[in-house]
Amino acid sequence: MRVSTGIKGLDEMLDGGFPEGRVILLCGGPGTGKTIFSLQFLAAAAERGEHGVYVTLEEPKSLVLENVEVFGWKLREREANKTFRVLDFCAVPFGVETYEVKSRDTGDIVLSMTKDLVNAVKEINAKCVVLDPLNSITVHEQRAGLKRYRIASIFDELRKLRVTSVLTSEVTSHEDFYMEEFLADGVIWLEKSIQNFNLIKTVRIEKMRGVKHDEQPRRYIINDKGITVYNTEPVKF
Ligand SMILES: Nc1ncnc2c1ncn2[C@@H]1O[C@H](COP(=O)(O)OP(=O)(O)OP(=O)(O)O)[C@@H](O)[C@H]1O
Ligand SMILES: [Mg+2]
Repeated sequence: MRVSTGIKGLDEMLDGGFPEGRVILLCGGPGTGKTIFSLQFLAAAAERGEHGVYVTLEEPKSLVLENVEVFGWKLREREANKTFRVLDFCAVPFGVETYEVKSRDTGDIVLSMTKDLVNAVKEINAKCVVLDPLNSITVHEQRAGLKRYRIASIFDELRKLRVTSVLTSEVTSHEDFYMEEFLADGVIWLEKSIQNFNLIKTVRIEKMRGVKHDEQPRRYIINDKGITVYNTEPVKF
């Protein structure tokens, strides 16, 4: 079974959409559209009657919802009628709505976040989950082995819940080693580059286990409808 990404052009690149119940990593630098992408995915799910939970780990909930108001996804209404839920798990306490993180131990953070997430998923019978960004959870963990274990345990928890999940990852280069790319079932990159003094944005599917997917980078735009991928046009460099 496939789950629509909610992004025009991307489902075609994925031969129908994300594989159901899998963990997808969405990688990209600042301002590439990771947050918009992930909320567009949940808004489209809600539109089909599939409930979703969005865990914000960096931007406070009020700002996240304000930033995407322009797209008309009715997220506040959806939250009010319990078809959508935002869990504010910001590591930095910006305001009254945010959680106060009492411990910097990644084990404690993972435990309390997964507990709240499992409860929220069960309460609204969610089928889709977003963690935005995943890096925030393990940022204080210096030990590589433990970092890998924490990430793997979050992925396990999500697979057990049988939700289709998009986890954003704040990364800018392919040169560094990101273990989460190996642990995830799918990896998508959002990238910006300059071509003849023009900025172009491209989306590329690095991997998607069990899916025969488009391997070419394709251009995407962000406008007042959200993200649209031009999946039939080649990208010229
Ligand atoms: N209404 C809009 N029309 C066109 N472009 C927009 C609109 N709203 C946002 N953008 C673009 O989207 C970018 C922000 O997208 P988003 O917040 O999803 O990025 P992000 O990858 O999550 O960034 P970060 O890593 O900083 O969280 C803006 O920098 C802007 O370029
Ligand atoms: Mg973001």
